[in-house]
Amino acid sequence: MIIVTSPPGRFSGELNVPGDKSITHRAVMLGALARGVTEIRGYLNAGDCHSTIKCLQSLGVKISGRGDRLFIEGRGMKLNEPAGVLDAGNSATTARLLLGILAGQNFDASVTGDQSLLRRPMKRVVEPLRLMGASVKGEGDYLPLTITGGILKPIDHVNAGASAQVKSAILLAGLFAEGITTVEEPYQSRNHTELMLGHFGANLQSDNFRVTLQGRPVLYGRPIRVPGDISAAAFIMVAATIIPGSEVLVKNVGVNPTRSGIIEALCSMGADIVLRQENMWGKEPVADILIRGGAGLKGITIGGAMIPRLIDEIPVLAVAALLAKGKTVISGAGELRVKESDRITTLAGQLARLGAVITETEDGMIIEGGAKLKGSDLDSCGDHRIAMALAVAGLAATGETAVRGAEVINISFPGFMAALRSLTL
Ligand code: S3P
Repeated sequence: MIIVTSPPGRFSGELNVPGDKSITHRAVMLGALARGVTEIRGYLNAGDCHSTIKCLQSLGVKISGRGDRLFIEGRGMKLNEPAGVLDAGNSATTARLLLGILAGQNFDASVTGDQSLLRRPMKRVVEPLRLMGASVKGEGDYLPLTITGGILKPIDHVNAGASAQVKSAILLAGLFAEGITTVEEPYQSRNHTELMLGHFGANLQSDNFRVTLQGRPVLYGRPIRVPGDISAAAFIMVAATIIPGSEVLVKNVGVNPTRSGIIEALCSMGADIVLRQENMWGKEPVADILIRGGAGLKGITIGGAMIPRLIDEIPVLAVAALLAKGKTVISGAGELRVKESDRITTLAGQLARLGAVITETEDGMIIEGGAKLKGSDLDSCGDHRIAMALAVAGLAATGETAVRGAEVINISFPGFMAALRSLTL
């Protein structure tokens, strides 16, 4: 449990946030399939990525760490049959992308996860992988699933929604299929897999909504420097925005346009956020983010193509919206219902305990701004991003806010509370 009170002063100073979770997962997986050693600098040393590392070690990949670096000894596409069930823990990215890789292997493997992951839909990856030729067995297409890989054929897949996990699972399977695999989506989802595949030597084209991959490439391990995770930085961005007088610089954050919707959304609410030192780390854009607190915020309406660009930041965006003038309307975000928790219901329910008024809709929510928040006893509902969003809300509430089950924060942002404390003046 953590206890949050509004800070006596303002937030000030510089900090680094942990490495990007999505990029770390992909670097470990592609490193495992490549030839040679992949050195990953600044990787996310936290729960979800540990799940990916452990699964790949069980598949015979040698992985070692030194300081902020991981070294992956690539196996050139061929993994070993695992001795036991592969446990993806709380991480849907691990489970879904791994299924894509296992579809191309010549053995049976079973994948499971924790209670939250067992409830998350897998049909979206299982169906296309079956069409490619893998056999996937399980009850109702939920984990645990047993996959038998083999000779795959390429497919042209049209994603019903924008999902980088589905796109990536199919592209990873497409690496093993002779010929051209394509994935099309209604809006562009995060494109780290495509960028990294290109970096490792695959031949692929991408025109935002459609990715085309030539199968059976030879991938070569390359050094990767992982930017700070914008999904972690978002909590600091909102915390500094809502505490007047704050001035915080978050250094070296990944600002890939497929991920940076939160910066645009907060700026259109009136937040004072600017990018400094913009540069490229390999194919990923990186910048320092300067946030000045105290700007008057106003409500916004978001939906459509913006949603995949900030899907993981909606819990903390909702906190900013509570403190803005007027309503914020979020639509087209039904995916939130199948994240680590049903984030629409958990947000509305938990923030209501602080005095917030949030109306749930099927695919989003309507947040009444101008809330006067009063500290209360809250629950993370086992969801790391809900825990951190509630802690940020607690900063703006009177009295004490307790967040129970806050240890889940270690899934993506170990040291989150210490980071906030380090900025307290
Ligand atoms: C992720 C993709 C997104 C995101 C998740 C990480 C990824 O999920 O919400 O936290 O690393 O590919 P979907 O692909 O389900 O939209």
